[in-house]
Amino acid sequence: MSKNISWGGRFAKGPEEAVAAYTESESFDRALYAHDIRGSQAHARMLGRQGVITPDEAATLVDGLERVKAEIEDGSFVWKADLEDVHMNIEARLTELVGNVGKKLHTGRSRNDQVCLSFRLFMADRLRAWRELAVKLAAMYVSRAESHQGDILPGCTHMQPAQPVSLAHHLLAYAWMLKRDAERMADCERRVRVSPLGAAALAGTTYPLDPESVAADLGMNGTFSNSMDAVADRDFVMEALFVASCTMMHLSRCCEEIIIWANPAFGFVRLPDGYATGSSIMPQKKNPDVAELMRGKVGRVYGSLAAMMTIMKGLPLTYNRDLQEDKEPFLDADRTLSTSLQIMEGMMGELAFNTVRMRSACKAGFLNATELADYLVGKGIPFREAHHITGAAVAEAERQGKGLEDLALEELRAMCDRIDEDVYAVLDYEAAVRRRETRGGTGPCSVARQIADLRAWIAAQD
Ligand code: ARG
Repeated sequence: MSKNISWGGRFAKGPEEAVAAYTESESFDRALYAHDIRGSQAHARMLGRQGVITPDEAATLVDGLERVKAEIEDGSFVWKADLEDVHMNIEARLTELVGNVGKKLHTGRSRNDQVCLSFRLFMADRLRAWRELAVKLAAMYVSRAESHQGDILPGCTHMQPAQPVSLAHHLLAYAWMLKRDAERMADCERRVRVSPLGAAALAGTTYPLDPESVAADLGMNGTFSNSMDAVADRDFVMEALFVASCTMMHLSRCCEEIIIWANPAFGFVRLPDGYATGSSIMPQKKNPDVAELMRGKVGRVYGSLAAMMTIMKGLPLTYNRDLQEDKEPFLDADRTLSTSLQIMEGMMGELAFNTVRMRSACKAGFLNATELADYLVGKGIPFREAHHITGAAVAEAERQGKGLEDLALEELRAMCDRIDEDVYAVLDYEAAVRRRETRGGTGPCSVARQIADLRAWIAAQD
């Protein structure tokens, strides 16, 4: 029940132990230590420049904070829960190391603008890291696509075989999703990189601070425009959690396909040993646990987003302690997303595609039915009628247990006398893929162009 050094002045005794444990945040916000120290150093330098403290005092604070950082990194720093949070832990140790001048660090600042700055700096770095991982994963999809431009598989709608597509085209769909995710991360990072320092508790301060120079010193894009908004909002956390949720959702769709494709009934992929597990009871099994876990982990990232939205709802301006609850959801989502992106890159790199099975699955699903209908349209039959004739041809082929291309010409002509020998070239599955050269289609030129466009985007990323 020790008295808190930061606000204990008017309190006769400290909080009850259970209450202290309930309110402390150092056990998780210590993750922000490096960014908190960076922010404090920038603040101290600015106080020195503005003459609020002397240049010598500023230098002492900056050096002292560097020593605190070294202690944290070599493990000698002693974290104290009764000092509540990362900010007070660092400031208390700074004062032990440099003496009374340490107590000047907080001049013109409140933990309300401080915590927001530390978190923004931390998140900006994490968003940058997410983006690098997303770009790397997109590059992996592109490189796998590059070597499967000539392989085809059934493209599905409603999880039913629809039309043949190239495996490259299918894989590139994920690369495009990841490109948008990476762009969302960059966009979110731009808004995160706004410095709230100088807002102080909520109303600004009487000291002649220079928030712009602090922002520039920290590589931020600018400063707050309203001190109340600066300390009260966490929309940037919600936004980042949405970006993380969306990216995880994309990964989960790919996981779902890997799980389905690994089922022997499909047999489209063989799971790499390093990304599968066996069963303790059924020796034949190879389970897609990694893909399943990744699909499951989307739940916790969505949970973080839902938590953050709920925390914010109805909060009166400005800072409320509720806002301390912003960190754990973000830290959990950060860990989940970062590891998922890395694991997915490894798994995609090693996934073995069974292109023979994919090719023969096209034949089983009448995937050339649209080709026959389009062929009939080319012969002057209205599309609705062509659709009907094709349906009859499919029914006949199904009855005989054959593909459309295995029906004899007379059998086809019995359904429509405008069908000629040239129909067989049209019913060819690879040809069906080759003919779809409209923009973004599965045709080989379109796919090559997608690969070139994605490669150019990847090369342009810093
Ligand atoms: N640990 C706190 C948080 O994360 C720091 C800010 C505390 N400010 C205050 N006025 N109690 O929100």
